[in-house]
Amino acid sequence: MRPKFVAGNWKMNGSFESNHMLLTALVTQGGDLPEGSVGVFPPSPYIAQCSSMLDGTPWAWGAQDVSCHESGAFTGEVAASMLVDLGCAYVIVGHSERRALHGESSELVARKALAAHRAGIRPIVCVGETLAERESGVTEAVIGGQVDALMDVAGEAVCAAALIAYEPVWAIGTGRTASPDQAQEVHAFIRGRVGERFPAIGPGMPILYGGSVKASNARALFEMPDVDGGLVGGASLVAHEFLEICRAAQGAGQVG
Ligand code: PGA
Repeated sequence: MRPKFVAGNWKMNGSFESNHMLLTALVTQGGDLPEGSVGVFPPSPYIAQCSSMLDGTPWAWGAQDVSCHESGAFTGEVAASMLVDLGCAYVIVGHSERRALHGESSELVARKALAAHRAGIRPIVCVGETLAERESGVTEAVIGGQVDALMDVAGEAVCAAALIAYEPVWAIGTGRTASPDQAQEVHAFIRGRVGERFPAIGPGMPILYGGSVKASNARALFEMPDVDGGLVGGASLVAHEFLEICRAAQGAGQVG
């Protein structure tokens, strides 16, 4: 059985004060969730705050991005080793906002996943198609290319440690969620694609769904056989909503 994992991507939101309120609620009301089944991904300046408030709780924490370089003259970048110093267990790479707004290629995303893995952090590699791509029938070609780049550039050991997040670009922050069947179709495709190349990895690879996950739709998504949890943006900033989503993942089974 693949365990479920729910990750809260705060994006560029938060302050010491609002984070404190949110984290306090997560810890006090979500202290009984299975260890490591939930995590938050704050902006980098707040990782230390998360670490001090979440250490010793079931909650993991991670970063929203990482450099593909180990160290050196890369102004503004954060190295994977620095995230390790802050206790990060995971890092998100290749979010569609970084691909679209910062021109990140699938090859660069794979190099970031490799850098994370080398430092001992699990990468959550985001993939997803735009609405235009879906409507022109190239969803599988697009997702296949993104997954292939990870396998080609980062290799088998990284894939064995990675999680993939399928986030259709048209569903992110739009309130328009993929239907459970649409999500399942792409998740099964991703699992098959990885399994063709790395048969030992595909069946066990955690594949999260992201894009307008809410308390009201989480359960139906998480019940799909190839949906192993969620990457949640907006709803992860509202404690009761996010906690409900986390509980929906546990209720949807496959905890093991
Ligand atoms: P959303 O964002 O839940 O606000 O749609 C998801 C994401 O971008 O990770």
